[in-house]
Amino acid sequence: MTERSSIAFTVYPDDCDAFGHLNQASFLALFERARWDAIARGPGMDVFTRNHVQPVVRKTTVEYYEQVFPGDRLYFSIELAQQGQTSFTLRQSARKEHGSRPVAEAELVFVCVDRDGKPHAVPDEITALFGGRPSRRTGVTQHLSVNGLATAVDASGDGVAVLLLHGFPLDRTMWRQVSGKLTGWRRIAPDLRGFGLTEAPESGYSIGAYADDLVALLDTLHIERAVVCGLSMGGYVAFDMVRRYSDRVRALILMNTRATPDNAEGRAKRDATLARVRRDGPTFLAAEMLPKLLAPATRQTMPDVVEHVRNMITNQVSDGVAGALAAMRDRPDSTLTLSGIDVPTLVMAGRDDQIVPAAESRTMAEGIPHAQFSVIPDAGHLTPMEQPVNVTRVVKEFLESLD
Ligand code: MLT
Repeated sequence: MTERSSIAFTVYPDDCDAFGHLNQASFLALFERARWDAIARGPGMDVFTRNHVQPVVRKTTVEYYEQVFPGDRLYFSIELAQQGQTSFTLRQSARKEHGSRPVAEAELVFVCVDRDGKPHAVPDEITALFGGRPSRRTGVTQHLSVNGLATAVDASGDGVAVLLLHGFPLDRTMWRQVSGKLTGWRRIAPDLRGFGLTEAPESGYSIGAYADDLVALLDTLHIERAVVCGLSMGGYVAFDMVRRYSDRVRALILMNTRATPDNAEGRAKRDATLARVRRDGPTFLAAEMLPKLLAPATRQTMPDVVEHVRNMITNQVSDGVAGALAAMRDRPDSTLTLSGIDVPTLVMAGRDDQIVPAAESRTMAEGIPHAQFSVIPDAGHLTPMEQPVNVTRVVKEFLESLD
């Protein structure tokens, strides 16, 4: 992803609050100044009027990590994090020195509207200014043969390996935002068998089979131990890895997942969904699952995330989705595993998760010796996609705490 990083400002006393440093509001103003500066140096301040659109901010997140005082010089970078038909997301960072850790970051979702307030296509000049079409990938996608299956894996970075396991019925690209920010670690995001670009055999699906594939993938990549980070179904697989391959697990991150198995009602529901997938294909799952997967705030303000989730679901194939439904239906009870987990563990929940309520995640965390627990506001079941900045911050702190 291309970054523009040539904009620098000196901080003046007027920029600061009563305590003499930059607060969130002052950062917001400086980030706005940096955007306009980039536009002025690029296509010109009239780029929007020329294209008959206005960019309307739908959502802003500002995170600040370090105090900044008058006289400090800040270097701003801007990148296009996502782009839809009529909306785009910019990610901005401010640093005290080029290449250093950001002192603040912002994510802003804009929707382009015309003079009547109706959504309008994002002007090409804006896309070009902030770095062209954003990558849909978290890194370089490799296609490896793993356990005899053609397997797609996004791999980037160096250092301690972090294995990112997607949920159902999604794929590796759900991690692209968080993975893109986890510089300093070796991020490995595979498509599990039957999902995304990984081959979908007709049979051979179980939680254990996914775990076996992942260990074979670690072998192929010559990784002895990885931090295993699983979301929901990915968490079910992480439990199996910790049970059967504990020597390959450096630490655990369990996101929006549960240890309990399906009850009779849940299993019957899996069977009904499985039969429908076999009959109609998996596309119907998008309409059925989207309202449950994403928080109301996400559905209202993050059209790109909604579109991305819909695309992932509608691009799946029946064998893979049906296989995963059977695998989840038959998954073992992991509650007995909890007390025996002896690696550092972080449990994360979305405050608005309708599938795995945050209270259930808390109880699960309490059952794991010394586990950390974090609830992310304004997130449903897909916290890393809905709140990538907050999720990355918590994950980074956890990874940094590992010796
Ligand atoms: C997931 O997100 O992976 C699913 O909600 C898991 C499940 O259906 O149990």
